[in-house]
Amino acid sequence: MSHETVLSVKGITKLFASTRALVDVTLDFKAGEVRGLIGENGSGKSTLSNVISGQLHPDDGTMELHGKPYKPANNVDAKNHKICMIVQEMGTIDGMTVAANIFLGKEDIFQNKAGLLDTKRMNSEAARILKEIGVDYIKPEALVNKMPFEDRKIVEMARAMYLEPEILIVDETTTALSQKGRDILYDIMAKMKEQNKTVIFISHDLDEVMSKCDSISVMRDGSYVDTLQVKDCTPSQIRQLMVGREIGDEYYRADYNHEYSDEVVLECENINAGILKDISLQLHKGEILGLAGLTDCGIHELGKVLFGLITPATGSVHVHRDGHTAEIKKPITAIHNKVGYVSKNRDQEALMLLSSIQDNISLPSLDMLKKGFIIFPKSEKELALKGADQMQIKMRGIDQTVMYLSGGNKQKVVLAKWIGNGSEILILDCPTRGIDVGVKAAIYRLMEKLKAEGKSILMISEELPEVIGMSDRILVLKDGEIQKEFMRGPEVTESVIIEYMI
Ligand SMILES: Nc1ncnc2c1ncn2[C@@H]1O[C@H](COP(=O)(O)OP(=O)(O)OP(=O)(O)O)[C@@H](O)[C@H]1O
Ligand SMILES: [Mg+2]
Repeated sequence: MSHETVLSVKGITKLFASTRALVDVTLDFKAGEVRGLIGENGSGKSTLSNVISGQLHPDDGTMELHGKPYKPANNVDAKNHKICMIVQEMGTIDGMTVAANIFLGKEDIFQNKAGLLDTKRMNSEAARILKEIGVDYIKPEALVNKMPFEDRKIVEMARAMYLEPEILIVDETTTALSQKGRDILYDIMAKMKEQNKTVIFISHDLDEVMSKCDSISVMRDGSYVDTLQVKDCTPSQIRQLMVGREIGDEYYRADYNHEYSDEVVLECENINAGILKDISLQLHKGEILGLAGLTDCGIHELGKVLFGLITPATGSVHVHRDGHTAEIKKPITAIHNKVGYVSKNRDQEALMLLSSIQDNISLPSLDMLKKGFIIFPKSEKELALKGADQMQIKMRGIDQTVMYLSGGNKQKVVLAKWIGNGSEILILDCPTRGIDVGVKAAIYRLMEKLKAEGKSILMISEELPEVIGMSDRILVLKDGEIQKEFMRGPEVTESVIIEYMI
């Protein structure tokens, strides 16, 4: 197999106002390889991908594709050069069907003689592609609006595959996918490599990067650091290149205690809602309770029920605080009782993208900041600054619009928002999604600190190592039912839990 250079990036610089997102980046991508692209949150990975895929124009520098100048005008132009990208955030368009999303920008091939769109032919072609990647349960004529995030990502993959790209960029997609979705993506990546094509794969999961990639390029603070062959390097070497200092392998809890108070702070009884069947659970003061299971087993829905976002068909949710009990039927009751909720779907549910970092962080705290009827701007600013600092948000200032933060930094804003308002109970749905190793460690330390202060955390996660690593107790769900309960201990391993998940 030839490993000739396909794409050369030369001296690319990209500025956003005073943020130097890319600084003089020079590197080559080869044919027939899967290249990992890693770096901390805000190090420039998505920006580089956007430059290569024509979404952004660099301020300086050039690119060459097969030795010829390559200067994509936009992403359609890049696609015409057979360069495609699966984006980090939502990449499908609401109000359109699956098929229309797959053939976005290519509708003209389905025009009939009268110049009208032959939807029947378009749908059957879409069905063929979906079947080819192994997802015939996704229907071409369905609107993407109501589809789960994962399925929308799969539609994006189908779109990319239809274009038969020579270079496919996958930006931080796997955290949104279940094992099934991941396997589909890994298959696509393997196939591309077999066909002597190139994959650029971005992920914060170093194990995943090391098992799927041939080589890894490291970014730090907008600069390119180095490219290593996976077979010649160790995870700790790569981490060190990424952060510029050594960080340990250990970032979960070191203890095997499962101590927490008997006092119940949040509970639900006999919840039936959608897939959820007769769920009852209790969260205690000072407890980290893990909810584990496959994406579609109901764990995410259960989080929403507990926060009052989904009204169950039967059953109820109660929060107990200072000797009072309240039934949670709406989020506002939850918020008034110091319950915070971090959604898995941050761009749609957890953030006001067009508002500033300060406004996002202070929103649930405004009541707390009120002195009489007035909120002093100074205290609002202090709260936001403290939260941003605690979460190490990479930004120019707290007046920056959230929309333009890197993916991981957006996630930090969501966490700062609920921790800043002094939530006593936190429902965290995939809290470390898209967050780099350094900040992940900081979040785990923060969870331990909150637990020590007597706060309670419900952690919903598809990442078994973190559920096992952090929880006092774990409930495993399958098909909407609680299958098994585990107490923290050395005997609780991934393989033991998986048995109850599938
Ligand atoms: N459109 C934009 N406007 C202003 N600043 C931006 C814009 N896009 C990116 N940035 C900034 O550029 C820097 C690099 O961001 P980028 O999204 O490339 O990081 P990343 O490596 O992909 O991070 P993550 O792992 O969190 O996704 C960040 O500081 C980010 O805030
Ligand atoms: Mg990114």
